[in-house]
Amino acid sequence: MNLIGQPFDRTDGLLKVTGEARYAAEFPEARLAHAVLVTSTIARGTIASIDASRAQAVSGVLLVMTHENAPRLPNGGKAQLAPPAGRRLSLLQDNEVHYNNEPVAVVVADTLEHATDAARQLRITYRASAATLDFAQAKANAHAPDKPQGRQTDTQRGSFDDGMRSAAVHIDATYTTPIEHHNPMEPHATMARWDGPQLTLYDSTQGVSGEAQAVAKTLGISPGDVRVISPFVGGGFGCKGSSWSHVSLCAMAAKQTGRPVRLVLERPQMFGPVGARPHTEQHLVLAARRDGTLTAIRHDSISNTSMIEDWTETCCMVTRMLYAVPNQVTTHRLVPLNVGTPTFMRAPGETTGSFALESAMDELAVALRMDPLALRLKNYAEADPQENKPWSGKSLRECYQVGAEKFGWSRRNPTPRSMRDGNTLIGMGMATCTYPANRSEAGAIARILPDGTAMVASGTQDIGTGTYTVMTQVAADALGFAPENIHFALGDSSLPKAPVSGGSQSAASVAPAVRDAANAARAQLIALALADPASPVHGIAPDDITVENGWVTSRSQPAKRDPAAAIIARAGGKPIEATSTVKPGDEKQKYSFHSFGAVFVEVRVDADLGTIRVPRVVAVYDVGRVLNEKTARSQMLGGIVWGVGAALQEESSLDTRYGRFTNANLAEYHVPVNADIGSLDITFLDRPDPYINSLGVRGIGEIGITGVCAALANAVYHATGVRVRDLPVTLDKVMQPTRV
Ligand code: MOS
Repeated sequence: MNLIGQPFDRTDGLLKVTGEARYAAEFPEARLAHAVLVTSTIARGTIASIDASRAQAVSGVLLVMTHENAPRLPNGGKAQLAPPAGRRLSLLQDNEVHYNNEPVAVVVADTLEHATDAARQLRITYRASAATLDFAQAKANAHAPDKPQGRQTDTQRGSFDDGMRSAAVHIDATYTTPIEHHNPMEPHATMARWDGPQLTLYDSTQGVSGEAQAVAKTLGISPGDVRVISPFVGGGFGCKGSSWSHVSLCAMAAKQTGRPVRLVLERPQMFGPVGARPHTEQHLVLAARRDGTLTAIRHDSISNTSMIEDWTETCCMVTRMLYAVPNQVTTHRLVPLNVGTPTFMRAPGETTGSFALESAMDELAVALRMDPLALRLKNYAEADPQENKPWSGKSLRECYQVGAEKFGWSRRNPTPRSMRDGNTLIGMGMATCTYPANRSEAGAIARILPDGTAMVASGTQDIGTGTYTVMTQVAADALGFAPENIHFALGDSSLPKAPVSGGSQSAASVAPAVRDAANAARAQLIALALADPASPVHGIAPDDITVENGWVTSRSQPAKRDPAAAIIARAGGKPIEATSTVKPGDEKQKYSFHSFGAVFVEVRVDADLGTIRVPRVVAVYDVGRVLNEKTARSQMLGGIVWGVGAALQEESSLDTRYGRFTNANLAEYHVPVNADIGSLDITFLDRPDPYINSLGVRGIGEIGITGVCAALANAVYHATGVRVRDLPVTLDKVMQPTRV
């Protein structure tokens, strides 16, 4: 595997920086019409009346689609795939309003300006009823969700009470995290075109085949009649991992108008109808002996969902597997509010859960007067304590060790407020990172073309992660071709099926399929050459044959070689083609698959003003084999930067009177900019996972954000002596402390 791991530049980099990469809303269409989504202005109630006369009168208006005239869908529009692959959508089938900013109409016109003007002229009156918007009040009616994302709602092992009784010290604390909204640079965007019964969707999605299925089911048409195309995605992070209302609405509007229709969400519409990370309230109890041995953990997580669907932030997943504690209870509960349904947001459950658990571990270390890293090593889980299975591979101990060395952890004086530089308090904090290593069935096709290049493809997606690049490397490596002679295609539901690019599973799922298909095509190419008396390699023993730079070559006599183009030409000029579908075996029954890491953060806090700067972060990861050091590092950079944002800045502010988010724009929804980020030092241990797949590759999309919030909050505690248990850690919380 010569090409695997190499820090190749992105194969699509030039297209992106020159603007040649075509995103969903950029496909040219003759007779294109423009749609604008109209959303509700109340949080709960019914639509009393719609006066479309002024909107209809705007020049160029083609359609005002509301619940009064929208096409009736099978099962009232609720025929989706089961959530979360599909969602409970708002498809103008009735006059009910379940949250503010919920789709209530679609206006289509010849230009975007006309559609926007008409949308503003639409007069809708409502009969509002009392909405549930206050989490603290609604909490009393929390319910247990049914198998959130297929996981157990609650778990118990050993006896929590026994564990508490044998403890010398315990921590009992509640941690809260705010609602956050995904804000990829490219908002959700869809173009829909009908050719007779066939629907083509250009959509910004993390899953072309899931989207095709969901839309087909919603509209009541054959899955074979829907094709989803998505060659480039300007960021997804989970919000584009399932099919939301605007996609089906765009298809309905195209059908009604008889024209191709484009629908792009406005930035404020990203704050409601397309998911969010929910508010979480997590109660943690950690109990330990004097020497730091954990005897019991309790983790009760409550998060909000919408009124139309249960979606759970699975905060307890990390707690279940991370430490070797014999007695444990974990629970998830849901509080329905009149807000849009939450969804996956980068490391859903692990980002929020690791903040709570790894903050609580820090608090326990303080209570025990123990080094926080030593406390983690003391409770190191040699096997998965919940599943009672060995790890497929775990080098977390080395992550801690390498990270501590690089960071200079030994220079840390454990006493809070003890390290300073003039009026600046210096803090050092650390936390563990972890994310499950997922994998699903995936298909790929490899075609060696008469010109001696290869076309390799899979119905996967590149959501900015580097899929084009790493799959080119995997294909080139397996075929024995130069990477520049591989054209890798993706983002089209007509290609061999691959899973949603979510749950950090694309690399681990698609790479083995690409490798298999490429290997099979290579074998055909070799067989063709060996069987051909006109070939320079004719008669050479198969085990003496390799393919190098596109030439079938004798290993022992490298001068004997035959280029792919010549082999194909002599055989009649037909491309060589192989397809492959690979799926996980029974390895999940035998091993527990997780990636791990350790993150160390230094903060500098102004002693008077409480302003927090983050000069450096050191992180070390065990994520299996790294396919491309450069794109992998970029993934971690993005994850850590997001972690810093979640720790210090991000928060959607819900107006509990009206149910709108008051900062639904990028001016007031704060995320880090370059000036907020100091040095980020990232190391991969690069240990192939022996059991996950033929390449030893685990996914890396999500682990980077995990642990960061806790490491940062722990560093702020170390700097200031103030324990902030409520994200984001803003200066007001540091200045007006609840001292511990
Ligand atoms: Mo990821 S939040 O599963 O796209």
